[in-house]
Amino acid sequence: MKNEWYKEAVIYQIWPRSFKDGNGDGIGDLQGVLEKLDYIKSLGVDCIWFSPLYPSPNCDYGYDIADYKDISPDYGDLALFKQVLDGAHERGMKVLMDLVVNHTSTEHKWFQESLKGKDNPYHDYYFWRKGKGKDGKKPPNNWLSTFEGGAWEYNKDLDEYYLHVFAKGQPDLNMDNPKVREEVKSIMRFWLDMGVDGFREDVITFISKKEGLPDGFPLPIATGVEHYNKGPHCHEYLTEFRKDIMKDYDCFMVGESPMTNSKDALKYTAGDDKVLDMMISFDHMQADCFITDTLCTPFNLKKMKKAFSDWQYKLNGRSWNALYLENHDHPRIISRYGSEKFWKESGKMLATMCYMQCGTPFVYQGQEIGMLNNHLDSVDKFKDVVTFNNEKLFKKFGFSDATYLKIANRTSRENARTPVQWDKSKYAGFSSVEPWFSVNPNYKEINVKQQEKDKDSILNYYRKLLKVRKENKIFIYGDYKEHFPESNDFYVYERTYEGKRALVICSFADETKTFRAPAGFDLTKGKLLISNYKDAPAKPNICALRPYEARVYLFA
Ligand code: NOJ
Repeated sequence: MKNEWYKEAVIYQIWPRSFKDGNGDGIGDLQGVLEKLDYIKSLGVDCIWFSPLYPSPNCDYGYDIADYKDISPDYGDLALFKQVLDGAHERGMKVLMDLVVNHTSTEHKWFQESLKGKDNPYHDYYFWRKGKGKDGKKPPNNWLSTFEGGAWEYNKDLDEYYLHVFAKGQPDLNMDNPKVREEVKSIMRFWLDMGVDGFREDVITFISKKEGLPDGFPLPIATGVEHYNKGPHCHEYLTEFRKDIMKDYDCFMVGESPMTNSKDALKYTAGDDKVLDMMISFDHMQADCFITDTLCTPFNLKKMKKAFSDWQYKLNGRSWNALYLENHDHPRIISRYGSEKFWKESGKMLATMCYMQCGTPFVYQGQEIGMLNNHLDSVDKFKDVVTFNNEKLFKKFGFSDATYLKIANRTSRENARTPVQWDKSKYAGFSSVEPWFSVNPNYKEINVKQQEKDKDSILNYYRKLLKVRKENKIFIYGDYKEHFPESNDFYVYERTYEGKRALVICSFADETKTFRAPAGFDLTKGKLLISNYKDAPAKPNICALRPYEARVYLFA
């Protein structure tokens, strides 16, 4: 079958600005990636996904693209990218680009042309609309941006507003214009012809807006989202991309899709008319928050398990899961769902819990060494438009500076954007000069070099775990069944495949708890494939499970 490689693959995400600085300017780049290709391969990775590498004014760190067919000078140039691509391919790794086509940057030449007036052919590449009200000074509708106040920005020269559902610097593309869709296909061809193997498609379910752009249900942020999330022509446009591009290329597509449940995902990823191979879901990432990361709550294990199991059951045999716990949009997972106190145990357990499920593992840079959330002492030290927008919102609701700082330190996605900690030298071996963003002060204890030397490190556990998955097809193709869904301490599930069974046992408790094997399992007959504690219990069927213990048994 074409392009089924992704089912057995492990994908490693690079957020280039913070991965590795190769030219000594404090910003991660492709020279740095080139130096680390062997390291990435050594993890058991089969594919690299690059967050945007394109030229960008960085109002949203690369997700505001000024030129889709070039590489940002911060990161290198096309020739260097080609070298990285070839280097990855030589090592048997594929490469995915981030395709961000819900919006461009205001600095993109299409947008600059669109500013020249209604008769300009690029004007209709975007949503330009007249204002409302007697004097025409009210925005065209009540939509709010997810990132920055209102979703409309006024332009005096044109006396019109443009739509941006993200930051002001990210005007939404009008995908209803066939010329825009041709541009998207041309971008895809450009990278595929160069040898790229597929795309991660940014907020792909936002690309079709409801005709007439009606007012939305009032919310504190993202008012109007019901009129563009899984909008009327979304599936149709994605079908067009898939058909026109896939017929010529063996190309893989994973779509990022906020506010999408497993049932919706099937419409996009299952059956003969599927338009994506996988979807990046958010349900399981909300076990310690309400709707967005910022509205934090205590971690709720049952909520997390319910979300994972729902996607596992619904997609089984019909579609495929993207298994992830971290990316550039979420704080570090040990700080969220694990324990900084039981850093090593919980780091290993979380990986086991996630990657032994059915789907393709995505590992985010630094996750493999258990990088943790950062703690900044002032909001000024943050860099992200979302952090600053939230600051305004929280202050509007009467929160103090000190309280918001605490919230930002816990919930900001910038926690995932600190430079990767390579060693204990100054700036964590990320750069020879002061990096663009603060290095987590724990780099002397948590870094790649130290963990390379330590057999028992989180890093070496990731390597082992990914190998176990690769060598035992049961973890790739097996059916999934959850046990003890009501437990507040354990996440236990079984996988079955070709007459074999496996049992994955994970404790989320920070103290020792009594564990009883599920009915029908005699753990003394199982082979312990991997565990995050050195010694296995002598009588495993009823035993004391230690804090954050994880064990995986195979029954032949
Ligand atoms: C999702 C990306 O992952 C995020 O980083 C970005 O800010 C938004 N889409 C807007 O492009």
